[in-house]
Amino acid sequence: MNSIEILDDISITKTKLLPIVLEITSQERKMIQDAIEHLQRKYGSYENRDFITHVHQLASYFLPDRILHITADFASDFSKNQYGALIFKGLIDIDQESIGSTPPNWQSADYSKFNLYGFACALIHGALPSKPVQYYSQRKGGGLIHAIIPDEKMCETQTGSGSSTDLYVHTEDAFLKHQADFLSFMYVRNEEQVPSTLYSIRSHESIGERYRPLFERIYKIPKDANLETGTSEEDTLDSILYGNYELPFMRFDAAEQLFNPSIKQSDEAQHHLSEFWEEARNLIYSDFTPQAGDVIVVNNHLCAHGRSAFRAGIKNIDGMEYPCERRIMLRMMSKVSLIDMRAHTLTDDPFFIIEEHLGKNFKHF
Ligand SMILES: [Fe+2]
Repeated sequence: MNSIEILDDISITKTKLLPIVLEITSQERKMIQDAIEHLQRKYGSYENRDFITHVHQLASYFLPDRILHITADFASDFSKNQYGALIFKGLIDIDQESIGSTPPNWQSADYSKFNLYGFACALIHGALPSKPVQYYSQRKGGGLIHAIIPDEKMCETQTGSGSSTDLYVHTEDAFLKHQADFLSFMYVRNEEQVPSTLYSIRSHESIGERYRPLFERIYKIPKDANLETGTSEEDTLDSILYGNYELPFMRFDAAEQLFNPSIKQSDEAQHHLSEFWEEARNLIYSDFTPQAGDVIVVNNHLCAHGRSAFRAGIKNIDGMEYPCERRIMLRMMSKVSLIDMRAHTLTDDPFFIIEEHLGKNFKHF
């Protein structure tokens, strides 16, 4: 056996890199529950600027030690062993009755029902530490939390409101220079038992020289299906990978960069992207099915997310289909630094991001 074969053997036996899963104990859950009830009494809403400004200190004061440690380690670990997703199983208890029936779409959601849960999400971002923010490019801002609800009328779109087609893996807002650093997905209900889909850039055996062309700024990075397509898209090019050459970050959206019919990459760009996707698509992880009260935290530079197609409002028990409440997920996005993106935030609100596309702001601000 020569050395190449030995190397091959080693690579085959490499353990599969997976998201970190943390089972929250009942004692920890009780601490979090007491904290968020207290914070709700004190601040009213998780949108309260005093709460958000002090969210780091409040997280340190109120969250259980184990969660604080693991969260802080996760936020600054970009190593080859860091998947880029952290799953908290059973972070909180969800009162399904008080939520009531799932609204027909996100536009008609009553956010007061999610208020308490918003505090819990914000504390987790605070512990990273990272600051909860809102993006004009997503629902014109719309607050620090977005309820992701399958909408029957939009079931075939590549957006959070879709359901009947696969939502390709993507890093959130790949078309922004100042995309979210961290995302959290809190599952309020998932009776359809839809698995979450994650894909980490660290799952590739090695990036090395092979994917060096992905660091070149030769790729069209179109805005996503939530937004109307502008006319200047064709001219704006950027890289897919960035940061460290050996252990890179990524801005990747398979649906928009590879399969958007209105965008034509150059032959060179298309070639490199297709080669990358051939490997990436086999590394997608969808073994975890979130339950109500679970939270997935994602480093948006390391790990992409998506979803398999599902039938909203239908659950399957022992091969039989039954109607059920449609899925509800709460998404929060955060930035580590308000300073770095100051050119792209509102004059009077540094938590409100008005970047439209790769460093360019929406014109009407
Ligand atoms: Fe997304």
